[in-house]
Amino acid sequence: MSVIVESQAKLFHLQSSGMSYMLQIVDGYPVHVYWGSKLKHREPMGDLLINTPEKAGLDRLPQEYPQYGSGDFRNPAYQVELEDGTRITELQYVGYRIQAGKPPLAGLPAVYTEDDAEADTLELELLDAYSGLKVYLLYTVFAERNVIVRSVRFCNEGEAKLRLRRVASACVDFSSNREREIVYLSGAWAREGNVTRKPLAQGEVRIDSKRGMSSHQFNPFAALVDPDTTESRGEAYGFSLVYSGSFEASAEVDSFGSARVNIGVNSFDFAWLLNPGESFQSPETVMVYSGQGLGEMSRTYHRLYRTRLCRGRYRDEERPILVNNWEATYFNFNTDKLAAIAEEGAKLGIELFVLDDGWFGKRDSDNSSLGDWFEDRRKLPGGLKEVADRINGFGLKFGLWFEPEMISPDSDLYRKHPDWCLHVPGRRRSEARWQLVLDYTRKEVRDYVYDSLSAIFSTVPVSYVKWDMNRGLTEIGSADLPPERQSETAHRYVLGLYELLERITADYPHILFESCSSGGGRFDPGMLYYMPQTWTSDNTDAVERLKIQYGTSLVYPVSSIGAHVSAVPNHQVGRITPLEFRGDVAMSGNFGYELDLTRLTEEEKATVKRQVAAYKQIRGLVQTGDLYRLKSPFEGNESSWMFVSENKEEALVYHFQEKAVPHPPRRSLRLAGLDPELEYEVHSGTDGTAAAIHGGDRLMGLGLPLIYEQKDYTSGWFRLQAVKSSKNEA
Ligand code: DGJ
Repeated sequence: MSVIVESQAKLFHLQSSGMSYMLQIVDGYPVHVYWGSKLKHREPMGDLLINTPEKAGLDRLPQEYPQYGSGDFRNPAYQVELEDGTRITELQYVGYRIQAGKPPLAGLPAVYTEDDAEADTLELELLDAYSGLKVYLLYTVFAERNVIVRSVRFCNEGEAKLRLRRVASACVDFSSNREREIVYLSGAWAREGNVTRKPLAQGEVRIDSKRGMSSHQFNPFAALVDPDTTESRGEAYGFSLVYSGSFEASAEVDSFGSARVNIGVNSFDFAWLLNPGESFQSPETVMVYSGQGLGEMSRTYHRLYRTRLCRGRYRDEERPILVNNWEATYFNFNTDKLAAIAEEGAKLGIELFVLDDGWFGKRDSDNSSLGDWFEDRRKLPGGLKEVADRINGFGLKFGLWFEPEMISPDSDLYRKHPDWCLHVPGRRRSEARWQLVLDYTRKEVRDYVYDSLSAIFSTVPVSYVKWDMNRGLTEIGSADLPPERQSETAHRYVLGLYELLERITADYPHILFESCSSGGGRFDPGMLYYMPQTWTSDNTDAVERLKIQYGTSLVYPVSSIGAHVSAVPNHQVGRITPLEFRGDVAMSGNFGYELDLTRLTEEEKATVKRQVAAYKQIRGLVQTGDLYRLKSPFEGNESSWMFVSENKEEALVYHFQEKAVPHPPRRSLRLAGLDPELEYEVHSGTDGTAAAIHGGDRLMGLGLPLIYEQKDYTSGWFRLQAVKSSKNEA
């Protein structure tokens, strides 16, 4: 049982294999007692809490879901406005329920169990007696993972209307006697995944998105760590919101040094009307505890998200190596050009051809046709079917790009339905990339998109879809909603998106879906629930990618991280790097190419052929192995990471150096995650030189010797295979 209840003391102890989380009802308030390494339950533990609200006042009490207006002056977790205009509520404990497994969240993406024995869910029932507001706090604790998943459900059981103004998915009050730092991912278009770390001090650190999407600027994730927490040591507490829209996360340190973390849908420009009898379910937050640094925190997220968030057939299948025509041709292609790239790809062993933007309407640039999902017969005289058949004829699968949430003002769809975009009547409609956003709160809009896509899926053999989304939401209003519900538009947009994604992915289970939002603008757990992989960034420069992929891996599994080799000079930064270096960076993710294969030299083709063949051998380990980050590209000239199989008998090590170093020292790379008792045969993947045998203890202690090459942008990789046990050696 993962939830232990001390009924008398009203103490709830949630326990996993390596973690405890405790809360207690004190004077009717759910009070936070502990979150950290596993504590053995020795009854009674209900005396752990020293301060009661009476003695301490709410402002000094660590709480589970704090309210506004009755003495706690920190950020509340929620706020509700009553019909009389007052904004005070007082939630008091009513009871609890424990169920095996994890219930799904209606209409929302969520992690799941496959067997009830994997987790238990505690539901606390709270009531504001004055208004009739019922609040249910949900906590799922996994038996074998150091994970707690939290969400909240609001129900209006009163007689009058209520308006939710703020709804955190989780709130945790960390105790006051520790210095802490916050880690999060910041960035911009083409610069996603910057690992940002800074000390917390009295005051507030807040990250958010107001863009209607999770955003390039901040990922819906934050972690609190100790100042001395590293990749492999120290405590880390992760918060990852399973949501794809505007979000907020804050860490507020009060005058006593305690830190309150709140995370949820962005309260800015949010309100939700709850009529009597209605309810509102918040998205969920996945909270991870690690006592072994950020590395273990990431691995816990990776295992959970790869196997209990991602769904569908491709969850457990090796992902195909693709070639995408975007950087090869942009909008300038015809059937023969596409077929030529695919034919070359077939010779090199590539498995999937993806036709990107520009195949529909009259789309010769990015200024028209979104919404008109009909093939452009000027470019593709035989239609998509002919393209797909020719590509299939070479032995490659066929994939297709869509941007289904958008509408171009210059489109037949817009001319027919000018009110189908998000807009505010009488106001300017701000275009970005010459496009507007479809109003996904409206069922007829979603049905149109569903019908357009399924018309293609039922006539063309589409095996893969890239679902793109290239702008943020502006003039967030819906022609379909009454005035009192306009502030619900942004969240309803996301719910509408989820509804459509559920329908499409369920009806076309054979299609591998990859999400994209100008690269990583919507790389979040919400999208991963529907689509098991994401295009990580529009920046395909290998040096930039070291940082982007490293940062993204803080939360997201490598199987979800799309990584392509592109041409040089690189289209985003103009940098020239060797094909081997570009290959090694992309092979550390979900691998593909995004260049005109027909323009490669014979020597380059031979390299690509080798890379493709190698990736086919190692992709199982790359995509499902445990990731150990060894050297951070944010900290120096070298980057390194490795992938280790669950039984620790196989591993892959990647090492990169950006700039040549004059008169370099002797170098070795200390590995991690191996079994110190095992002997490993180490092969160089780069040049296939003779294998050497080293003990796991030595590889992690002394390290793997690295050969120095006197040039910029060098990389190397090694395969490790356990050969025999050295258990009896001294
Ligand atoms: C943005 C994506 O991130 C790119 O990969 C490409 O698909 C373009 N959109 C096409 O417009």
